[in-house]
Amino acid sequence: MSLEGGASSGRLLDVAFLPGEGRPADVSVVIDVLRATSTIADALSNGWTRVLCAGTVDAARALRGPGRALAGERECRPIPGFDHGNSPGALGPGGGRELVLSTTNGTPAILAAADNSEKVLLGALLNLEAVARAVPPDADVTLVCAGTDGRFALEDAYFAGRLVAALAGKRTDAARAAERLAGSYPGPLDPLAESADAAVLRETGQEADIRCCARESVLDVVPQVEGVEGGLAVVVAARRGGPVLDEAVG
Ligand code: MLT
Repeated sequence: MSLEGGASSGRLLDVAFLPGEGRPADVSVVIDVLRATSTIADALSNGWTRVLCAGTVDAARALRGPGRALAGERECRPIPGFDHGNSPGALGPGGGRELVLSTTNGTPAILAAADNSEKVLLGALLNLEAVARAVPPDADVTLVCAGTDGRFALEDAYFAGRLVAALAGKRTDAARAAERLAGSYPGPLDPLAESADAAVLRETGQEADIRCCARESVLDVVPQVEGVEGGLAVVVAARRGGPVLDEAVG
């Protein structure tokens, strides 16, 4: 990726390896590579107008209505009664509908980040380059990894390091560590494939999602939180363009 990296700018780049470590910053970028932020990027590239991120299954169910579909997972499995699981590329075209999404770690992390930053963007490998370009050059940024059940997630830390490497700014120690971690891998598939979350996807018969989520910069969309109300984060495309994931995955 031909974006400016390095530490020359005065702004601060930080990484929260878990949502609870997130500190107030001008911009937060929430990361749940396997799979919530990948699914949201896919949805907004594929005709879903908004993604309503719900913290709980009940909150998502309460939003069922015309022009909406429900998606999400618990323990990586589709939620009974919901229309879709949490597999990017499997949603299909939204056709102008809204997607209501509830996931174990990703949607709560998005809600938590909105408490810390006015501007919250969502990042995944699928839209890495688009997100790097969307981060304002002078803004202090916290990259917030969703993690897994309160534990460090390798794939999120890898992505955080890739994004740090693409941005100019002073690094915290956490940002430096993430950048080093990312630099130790030849490409995205390795850290994703060896992660604990990938093992669960294999166990649950969703192995194809690992390769799908490891595709880099195939979507030009930048999901952004438009607002939070009543435990619900409304996510829209701050920038929308490029091929939809189904075509990009091919
Ligand atoms: C989550 O939010 O915990 C994840 O996206 C889990 C998954 O579906 O892989």
